[in-house]
Amino acid sequence: MTDRITPEVVRNAKGQGITALTAYDYPTARLLDEAGIDVLLVGDSLGMVILGLPDTTGVVLEDIVHHLQAVRRGASRALVVADLPIATYRTPEEAVSNARSLAKAGADAVKLEGGSACAEQIRAIIDTGIPVMAHLGLLPQHIQEEGGYKIKGKTEADREFLLEEARVVEKAGAFAVVLELVFPKTSGEITRAISIPTIGIGSGSQCDGQILVIHDLVGYSPWFIPKHVRPEAEVGNTINRAARAFIAKVKRHE
Ligand code: KIV
Repeated sequence: MTDRITPEVVRNAKGQGITALTAYDYPTARLLDEAGIDVLLVGDSLGMVILGLPDTTGVVLEDIVHHLQAVRRGASRALVVADLPIATYRTPEEAVSNARSLAKAGADAVKLEGGSACAEQIRAIIDTGIPVMAHLGLLPQHIQEEGGYKIKGKTEADREFLLEEARVVEKAGAFAVVLELVFPKTSGEITRAISIPTIGIGSGSQCDGQILVIHDLVGYSPWFIPKHVRPEAEVGNTINRAARAFIAKVKRHE
């Protein structure tokens, strides 16, 4: 994928190793865009990695809009996708109104969590001309009911449920679907069963693409490294070392 990435380009890249990372600010968006990332997600994970909240349920639309505008300024090639936070798509009307706000703030597409429970919302948003990325498996906006980050699609019933949910979001018109913490055999099966690309996070290597939270990839939240992540850098340590060097120089009046 070389030219500007559109939802259509992502949809047609099934099986081609679609790359996606979260971004929440201008420099990160610009660096990732220049590196050639296909998709930048302004995820509600910003609640945890930027705002220091315990989960994503405290994130509101204005948080996403604020960070999305910065990411938009830094992205010229990548597709910019923005999360609809919790309680912003309870009805099709609410979903359309909030998706429009994200599109106005610079999103090329929006993402929401759930399958059959929000198929109408997906269809309504797409009908207004805004593309939708779906999100199945572990749904972080439901983490309090779920009681933790547990792998999905391991039992036969859950495998069948997820396969059906994937077909539902495909039929509703989503151009891609994130599979979060889905048992790898099941994510492979889903990937083969639907025509739109699957983008996995902690769901094995058989998905059509992969997404990570940028802080996890570069070691910027070293106090918490999810099991599925092998950091490629140690930004946290680099910042710590730079700050210590600065402190020492100032103390020596250098
Ligand atoms: O909010 C987010 O960063 C996400 C990814 C984990 C897929 O939804």
